[in-house]
This record gives sequence, structure tokens and C-alpha cells, in this order.
Amino acid sequence: MKILITGSSGFIGFHLSVLLLKKGIKVKGIDCMNNYYDVKLKKARLNILKKYKNFSFSKINLENEKKINLVFKKFKPKIVIHLAAQAGVRYSIDKPRVYLKSNIDGFFNVIEASYKVNVKHLIMASSSSVYGANRSIPFKEIDKTETQLSIYAATKKANESMAHSYSNIWKIPITMLRFFTVYGPWGRPDMALFKFTKGIINNTPIDIYNNGNMYRDFTYIDDIVKGIYLLINKIPNKKQIGKYKNDSLSNVAPFRVLNIGNSNKVLLLNFLKEIENRLNKKSKRKYLPLQKGDVKETLSNINLLKSLTKYNPKTNYKKGIGEFITWYKDYYK
Ligand SMILES: NC(=O)c1ccc[n+]([C@@H]2O[C@H](COP(=O)([O-])OP(=O)(O)OC[C@H]3O[C@@H](n4cnc5c(N)ncnc54)[C@H](O)[C@@H]3O)[C@@H](O)[C@H]2O)c1
Repeated sequence: MKILITGSSGFIGFHLSVLLLKKGIKVKGIDCMNNYYDVKLKKARLNILKKYKNFSFSKINLENEKKINLVFKKFKPKIVIHLAAQAGVRYSIDKPRVYLKSNIDGFFNVIEASYKVNVKHLIMASSSSVYGANRSIPFKEIDKTETQLSIYAATKKANESMAHSYSNIWKIPITMLRFFTVYGPWGRPDMALFKFTKGIINNTPIDIYNNGNMYRDFTYIDDIVKGIYLLINKIPNKKQIGKYKNDSLSNVAPFRVLNIGNSNKVLLLNFLKEIENRLNKKSKRKYLPLQKGDVKETLSNINLLKSLTKYNPKTNYKKGIGEFITWYKDYYK
């Protein structure tokens, strides 16, 4: 099997590539190695991937339509997993246009290129942030998603619409994954776990939004990549209509959106407390109001993913934090 992964030097793309390579799958990675966060971290992940003989890499920006088309034409992937994007809710307040370039133009190029090489299954990253101001917890795929609170979330919602329309017209099987706060070793420096750990170790104050009164459905990276792996052969198909309860499968196209979360909500202050326990050190806290564009609570309903696959997220947040801190201390020693 040959799989093309965009965003392979990113947090999720790296872990997914490792899992697939270990299974003997041929992986082509694409990433522009941008400096949204520490490029050294992206290079370190890439260097690990380069040790596998089944891995090849192209440093390309998604916005470069010609280069993207060429790589797809040469590699001829049957499966494409599109994870590259400008991520992060907070940065999208200051730099909204960056999101339009990567997440709209770049996304479109990936869909076009996938269509041209006739992929069997296109799996693409969306986000739990599309649920926006929804109040009905836990979030279900078939809930309405009309109230995104940030441009980041709006681009992800636009991606879902664009993907559905292409799936409808060209009958490309597409699964859109709504990720819920992914964390773990090699994680992103712009996310809470990394920032809290770094702040505590370096004795610098950490920002705590909404006075810590926020809940997140933290999902451990190993559970996430196992879930994606299990989905590769679960290709959306019109014949599945009516087979699964609360299915988000389109009634006109081989298209489905899926939550991929842990289905447990954790209070941010408890998450922080566990980091302090593991480091055996107290944090210096700066309590702040809720950030613009942020949601107070996320929680996934993952019944659909469980019905489709044997997905069973096993890692609780205390264990996951422990794994991250072990990695962090070793990497930054
Ligand atoms: N990590 C999470 O909690 C989370 C939650 C919801 C959704 N997501 C989505 O999952 C996907 C992967 O997230 P991640 O946490 O691994 O993020 P990440 O930032 O670590 O990885 C994304 C990678 O894409 C690359 N990239 C960005 N723009 C590009 C472009 N124009 N051309 C080529 N490469 C480009 C970056 O260099 C980076 O290596 C993203 O689409 C993100 O929006 C992640």
C-alpha cells in the first residue's frame, strides 16, 4: 500500500507516518516546514522519519499547485491523508489571511490533485472547533455546525463544505476528521500541555484563560493515529446508508464527517494540577479572561467511529501527561 500524508513533519502527521511505516506501508510525506512554531522540532521529527527506507519526503507548500500536482502524479497514492494546515485558534485572530492561504487555497489544491490521480480514499483534517457556540454536549457529527467562533474554525467548516461538493461531483470518497485537542510526546509548542510544562520548568508565569474554568476532551496521540489507521479501509459508500446509528454519511455523496476524540472532558485546572504533580513543582499562574474565538467546553460523542471501527481510546489524561513529560525532559535535556 502507498499513502501520501501532508503535514508529515507536524505533530499528528509525524506520529501517523511512524505508525504506517512500522506496518511496512510506503509513505510519501509533504510539508513546507513553516516557522509557525520551532522549525527544529519539525526537523527532528522529519529526521526520524527519514530513517525508514519506505519513507520519502518533498518539501512543498500546498499553495504551489504545480508542485503538488506533480508529486501526486509521480507517487500515484491510492490513499491520501491531508493533515497540513495552519492550525491554532489564537493565531488566527492576528493572522487570519495565513489561514485562507493554507486552509482554503492549499486545501483546494490537495482535493484537486487527489481527484486527478483517482484516490480511493481521501482522509482530511477538520476540527472540533467547527462546533463553535453549540451548547448540546457531547458534540455529535449530525449536530448543526453553523456558529464557528474563529477564522480557523471557519476555514475548517469551509473545508467540510468544499470536500462534500467535490465528493458529490466527482464521487471521491472522503472522510473528514474532527480532532479533539490532541496531545502527547512531540506535541505542539503552541498548545497548553507544552506551554504549561515549559513555564513550570523555567519558572515563568503561564497564561490561564477563563480562570481555568474550561473543559477539553484531551485525546492522546497514540489513540488518534490508531483511529486514523483503522479508518483507512472504512471508505464511505452510499450502500452504507441506514447501517449506522446517527451516521453523518451524505445521502448524495461518499462523504462522512467523524469525531475522533477521547469522549471525556477534563477541567483545565485539573490538567494543570497533574502537570504540577508530575513535575513536583507549582506553576506561576496568570489568570486571564476567555480568549476571543475560544470555546469553553469540548466533548466528543465517538459512537459513530466506534461502530465503524474498533476504535477504543485507552489513554487517560494522567498517563498521557506522564508520557509527554518524559519525552519533554529527554528532548530538552
Ligand atoms: N493537534 C490538535 O489538537 C488538532 C485539533 C484539531 C484539528 N487539528 C488539525 O489536524 C491537523 C494536524 O495538526 P497538528 O497538530 O499536527 O499541527 P502541526 O502544525 O504540528 O502540523 C501541520 C503541519 O503542516 C505544515 N503546513 C502548514 N501549512 C502548510 C502549507 N501551506 N504547505 C505545506 N505544509 C504546511 C506545517 O509545517 C506542519 O508541519 C491540522 O489540519 C489541524 O488543523 C489538530
